[in-house]
Amino acid sequence: MTVPVAFLQAYYSLVYFATLGTCDKVFYGSQRIFGFDLHQMTKNFLITGAARGIGRGLSRLLLQRGHSVFLIDNSKTELEHTSDYLAQNFSSSKYSVALCDICEPLQIKSAIEKAAKFFNGHLDVLINNAAYTGAVGSAPFAELSLEMWNKSIQTNLTGAMLMSQGCLPMLRKGAGRQRGGCIIHMSSTRALQSEPNSEGYAATKAGLIGLTHAMACSLAGDSIAVNVILPGWIHVANECKDGGAWEDLLSKEDHRWHFSNRVGKVEDILRAVEYLADAEFVTGTEMVVDGGVTRKMVYPEV
Ligand SMILES: NC(=O)c1ccc[n+]([C@@H]2O[C@H](COP(=O)([O-])OP(=O)(O)OC[C@H]3O[C@@H](n4cnc5c(N)ncnc54)[C@H](O)[C@@H]3O)[C@@H](O)[C@H]2O)c1
Repeated sequence: MTVPVAFLQAYYSLVYFATLGTCDKVFYGSQRIFGFDLHQMTKNFLITGAARGIGRGLSRLLLQRGHSVFLIDNSKTELEHTSDYLAQNFSSSKYSVALCDICEPLQIKSAIEKAAKFFNGHLDVLINNAAYTGAVGSAPFAELSLEMWNKSIQTNLTGAMLMSQGCLPMLRKGAGRQRGGCIIHMSSTRALQSEPNSEGYAATKAGLIGLTHAMACSLAGDSIAVNVILPGWIHVANECKDGGAWEDLLSKEDHRWHFSNRVGKVEDILRAVEYLADAEFVTGTEMVVDGGVTRKMVYPEV
């Protein structure tokens, strides 16, 4: 049967918007609607640091949109909490989890093998989101320990590099696939600006920008796009085991600090991810998602 392209586009838009904010068991139970295979429009995502915070929010929202998600994290408690939530809201055919410390190459290997089985060898988007943030403001630079410095490098930079290397076979273009997948690194506006005593974090987040253009160059032949998102303040108080409401702990001043007049949400990062996942002509570059704060001139109070 030949179906006009315009009809298909209208139909898929309808399904996409109809499912926003809903759970997949309602709409995606069969994976087929009116004879069309929804897998053709949905993607396979692998997200590190997905048990809490931005990674958890992205996983939840992508699943709501019908995508499949493989979640990696090294926090057993948070991963169990998130798994319980997912089990209540989504079909187990759409997601899987792996407890994995991305500082440990053998654990990475085993998690990627599990993901390859789950995705049947086809990955569309790898999001290197996990980070060690504990070093921010924790000790004066003069007392920064080698242990803390190395933990930042291993988690934020080496972990992202190893995850990317390990996922290449699942991302490359090949038989039945004209385009490769894409890799998104999660940096920070702290790659560009600093508070005191955040050397390990700032250096690794800036390092991800270099890693991005180097990998984009090296992987162009495989048709794999590599980009980096620099989030500003993304409030994720609601995305963890002991979390409350999103508004918790936010003041009017916090919102007013931003050109956008509000603090960032996981949904803001989702929009960047969705754009990059489909942007054929965008690779090797950085996308700042910060409500304008890095463009804000700040003078001393008088
Ligand atoms: N939230 C923000 O305002 C903000 C701003 C700028 C950048 N970012 C970046 O976004 C990403 C997510 O931030 P978040 O606020 O959700 O952080 P978060 O601390 O809430 O979550 C990070 C997750 O990564 C996991 N993780 C840490 N080390 C790991 C390891 N070795 N192996 C596997 N998993 C590990 C943690 O268990 C946690 O679930 C990070 O890369 C962070 O640097 C966040």
